[in-house]
Amino acid sequence: MSDFEPILTRNWNVPDGDTLKVYESRGGYQASRKALTTMDPDAVVGVVKDSELRGRGGAGFPCGLKWTFLPKDRKETLLCVNGDESEPATFNNRLLMEKDPHQFIEGILIACYATRASTAYVYLRFEYIKAYRILERAVAEARAAGHLGKNIYGSGFNLEIWLHRGAGAYICGEETGLIESLEGKRGWPRIKPPFPAIEGAFRKPTVVNNIETLACVPHILERGAAWFKSIGTPKSYGPKLYCVSGHVNKQVCVELPLGVTARELIDVHAGGVWKGRKAKAAVPGGISMGLLSAAELDVKLDFEDIRKTGCLGLGTAAVTVLDDQTSIVDYLYNTSRFFAHESCGQCTPCREGTSWMYKTMKRIKSGGGRLEDLDILQNMSNNLGIMPGTTICGLADGAAWPFKNALAKFRPEIEEYIRTHQDPSRRITPLQAAIASGVSADVAVRHSLTVLGSAPAPAALHSADGGNRP
Ligand SMILES: Cc1cc2nc3c(=O)[nH]c(=O)nc-3n(C[C@H](O)[C@H](O)[C@H](O)COP(=O)(O)O)c2cc1C
Ligand code: SF4
Repeated sequence: MSDFEPILTRNWNVPDGDTLKVYESRGGYQASRKALTTMDPDAVVGVVKDSELRGRGGAGFPCGLKWTFLPKDRKETLLCVNGDESEPATFNNRLLMEKDPHQFIEGILIACYATRASTAYVYLRFEYIKAYRILERAVAEARAAGHLGKNIYGSGFNLEIWLHRGAGAYICGEETGLIESLEGKRGWPRIKPPFPAIEGAFRKPTVVNNIETLACVPHILERGAAWFKSIGTPKSYGPKLYCVSGHVNKQVCVELPLGVTARELIDVHAGGVWKGRKAKAAVPGGISMGLLSAAELDVKLDFEDIRKTGCLGLGTAAVTVLDDQTSIVDYLYNTSRFFAHESCGQCTPCREGTSWMYKTMKRIKSGGGRLEDLDILQNMSNNLGIMPGTTICGLADGAAWPFKNALAKFRPEIEEYIRTHQDPSRRITPLQAAIASGVSADVAVRHSLTVLGSAPAPAALHSADGGNRP
């Protein structure tokens, strides 16, 4: 790894590295010039496809392949650049925009030429006001210098970039939620198909790509697909920006070949676990990806190996470290609170499931937990999301995976918490217990009345408390 040359971050520590002058003086806009003046758009798609660049926004879908899904007979194409970046602990897109905006503007230019899009929208997370201002200036600089606008480099190709700020919702990072929001509507993900490539923003064929994905594109054009594939691990090629935060000595965003381990990130790049403690666990790539135990920190953080640990995927490659004094109950409480708040509410399993998981964790945390709550949480997390096929988008999978992993890897700790934190005033009522155990509401009400001494109890309900209540 010592011969690895950081490429995406090469201008980050250069004085005025965010300006056009410095970007051009360091070879910037040469790749776009080459593409627009010497290559056919399909040839550009071919190079990106050959590089097997996989999307950096979370799903890891091959970028060049996505571009080929656009209808051949389309009259207009749009590019939506996903700069929503609201996955907790993820900040690589923000740094790419703030420190070297022209790199990904050049990526947009090449992507638009390849896909024949003459309009690109950059959808920005609401909180990223500094990035927004830097981008406004960079887009103006690029237009004044002829990298945007009409007849770019005399090629006959036209491109305009529009910046669009979100209003602060996690779900607007999901590509169709983003498109709805861009259209001025509530950010509700769309049922797919049709996929955006067929019918996206304003019902036109649309490509959605992440900022880091597009930042890779000029380098692939300049250095070739073989160069890109010489970096990383099989099926996970190229450089990657890894964010490390949580209980470490130094919070960093570092560029490394795909496939570095969480242990190397923590010990070598983030200065180790803080306060001389040990890591208990690590979130591998944003909280929706699940949880690695300390014993799994040597797994490669690429698109393939991470799945062997039961995690959902690489996600945004933003690693959050939990030290050995962190409670997994607190982790699940915070995680479930986030997803219950961010669920857009369209799908019943997600809307009801995330808030139920949150309420259950709130009760467990405050001393009213029951051991059988863990079976209910397990059952809910197994039945929530795109993977079991019950929801429109992947937010629900993201809500389920922390539970799946924590219950598989840390169940004894959660059980111990439930046993040792009992607070009689926080225990759930017989009615709540009956409903939680899956009986219908009218039976539950009858059971509740039975407990109060006014109706006969159905036999099946005698075990509703699991024998765990006084
Ligand atoms: C709930 C949810 C939130 C998402 N948030 C983001 C985000 O903030 N940024 C992003 O690039 N992709 C996000 N994605 C993934 C996008 O839907 C989409 O796959 C991605 O922008 C495609 O770009 P890429 O192929 O270049 O990675 C999110 C997905 C889901 C399900
Ligand atoms: S899964 Fe959740 S966030 Fe996604 S569309 Fe359904 S309700 Fe909304």
